[in-house]
Amino acid sequence: MTRPLIAANWKMNGDLALAEAVIAGLAEGGGGGVDVLLCPPFVYLREVARMARQAKVDGLMVGAQNLDYHAHGAFTGEVSAAMVADAGCEYVIVGHSERRALFGESDDDVARKAQAARGAGLAAVVCVGETFAEREAGRTEAVVESQLAPLAGFFAGGGGGGGDGCDFAVAYEPVWAIGSGQSATPGDARAVHELIRRRIAARNPAAANRARVIYGGSVKPGNAAGLFAEPGIDGALVGGASLAARDFLSIIRGGYAD
Ligand code: 13P
Repeated sequence: MTRPLIAANWKMNGDLALAEAVIAGLAEGGGGGVDVLLCPPFVYLREVARMARQAKVDGLMVGAQNLDYHAHGAFTGEVSAAMVADAGCEYVIVGHSERRALFGESDDDVARKAQAARGAGLAAVVCVGETFAEREAGRTEAVVESQLAPLAGFFAGGGGGGGDGCDFAVAYEPVWAIGSGQSATPGDARAVHELIRRRIAARNPAAANRARVIYGGSVKPGNAAGLFAEPGIDGALVGGASLAARDFLSIIRGGYAD
């Protein structure tokens, strides 16, 4: 099995003290054989990357939550892939459902962002997932497939870099599970993870073996182990529970105990 990836998406939360607490906890107790990715807001990236390097924790990485796919120019408020890399990041999250819903990102925008990340040497965590209404209508697979379709070229070109020698991961984040306290069942998540892996494999069998397909949506210390026990769930993208160092460390340590 690939080395699991446990990622913290702080969203518009957190501060340097939180980074310090998480990194100190990891330095003390070790990373537990998993890759850990911290994704704080843009303004903290350079300093958190510096702290992570200094701590020398095996598998600890820093990523941004978004980027703009243009190389540079008159795009007030935006940040390019090269700038994210320059800040010391190895990863970037693209296509989070909040970006899609609140900031109007299309499936094509997400694919452009993933390509821009690769162009700058960053690994991308590409997010997909259906809404509650889509799930109720039995459209989960169709929605995820349509989100993945513009990424076909990106998957085909997947290569080295990133954790486990693959420069992308896909996060399945059902929108209804985000921040709701109600996660998908391990079995339901597994079915979508298998679909995602099949779609990657259709474009790039080698990358499909290496790429981590991780789950996001109300992952907590109490349900992480059950999710991680499911074959094909290679880690988690954690929101709320990543904002308390203790909870996040407990997900890292409890979830994939050797
Ligand atoms: P919660 O863990 O708060 O449900 O958020 C999940 C998420 O959106 C991570 O990107």
